[in-house]
Amino acid sequence: MSFPTVRHRRLRNSGAMRALVREHALSADDLIYPIFVTTGEGVKEEIPSMPGVYHYSLDTLDAEIDEVTELGIRSVLLFGVPDHKDAEGTSAYDPNGIVQQATRRIKARAPQLVIIADTCLCQFTDHGHCGVVRQGDNGEACVDNDASLELLVRTAISQAEAGADVIAPSNMMDGFVQAIRAGLDEAGYESLPILSYSVKYASAFYGPFRDAAHSTPQFGDRKTYQMDPANSREALREAESDVLEGADMLMVKPALAYLDIIRALKENFDLPVVAYNVSAEYSMIKAAAANGWLDEQAIVHETLLGMKRAGADLIITYFAKDAARQFR
Ligand code: PBG
Repeated sequence: MSFPTVRHRRLRNSGAMRALVREHALSADDLIYPIFVTTGEGVKEEIPSMPGVYHYSLDTLDAEIDEVTELGIRSVLLFGVPDHKDAEGTSAYDPNGIVQQATRRIKARAPQLVIIADTCLCQFTDHGHCGVVRQGDNGEACVDNDASLELLVRTAISQAEAGADVIAPSNMMDGFVQAIRAGLDEAGYESLPILSYSVKYASAFYGPFRDAAHSTPQFGDRKTYQMDPANSREALREAESDVLEGADMLMVKPALAYLDIIRALKENFDLPVVAYNVSAEYSMIKAAAANGWLDEQAIVHETLLGMKRAGADLIITYFAKDAARQFR
């Protein structure tokens, strides 16, 4: 009878021992909470495909912000759901747009909370694309890269003027970090960081978000600007150009099916890596939990831990409040 020469189980003998040798931990400091703000008054409307996630009008937002700060969450990511859409997405860069108003309101109420403004046009355009649309050379409609950049720069500056602490461009136009950096610098916001949605895949995992943000493209899809899920080396090129253009943090989105990409960015760049645990990743767990098929708390913890292990320094997640409650 031969005995094992290596005994891994020695370090698993007790809870105290396991805690002592634990490599990764989650805390509220790791989490960024996305919030949808909308016009009107007294609105707190649940998004059907995302139970527990709501649209808030400015007045009902106050209580939500209080809850977030009490839970020790340090940062929120703001998405606007405007009442007016047009071809140029003008309400994205209106100084009195919904995101700008919400930013001012949150700043006044919770000055220490880091407000990240999502900088994109798709919630604000009537066609639902992330930039401006023109007729392409083949006669078909296409998203005009450079014309879109101008509007994105205006959006970023108006968000900065409203008091945003971080600008997070998510539109995937070429050169968006460079354009926004230059625009912010010129407007006197050279200290304002850019969190770039560097590696954003054309993913089916955004489905529930598009219900929530009313941002489904009215024709075509986003495949000419978002990345092909089959590619990983291209992710390094995307991230590299963002670094050269002056990004301060790099995001990978979605997270769960792209843990290899999170790891690759972590290994290749020295900027903070942010994982976006997107809407369908949330809805899948919520739906299964509602059926009693799994232990929601344990699954959420394990999922977020997997993202940290892969290399995420920060995680944007609709589970942020639930998770922060668990960690207390
Ligand atoms: C839009 C944007 C999207 C998300 C955040 N900003 C999706 C899209 O491309 O339609 C998705 C977030 C989620 O699914 O939680 N620029």
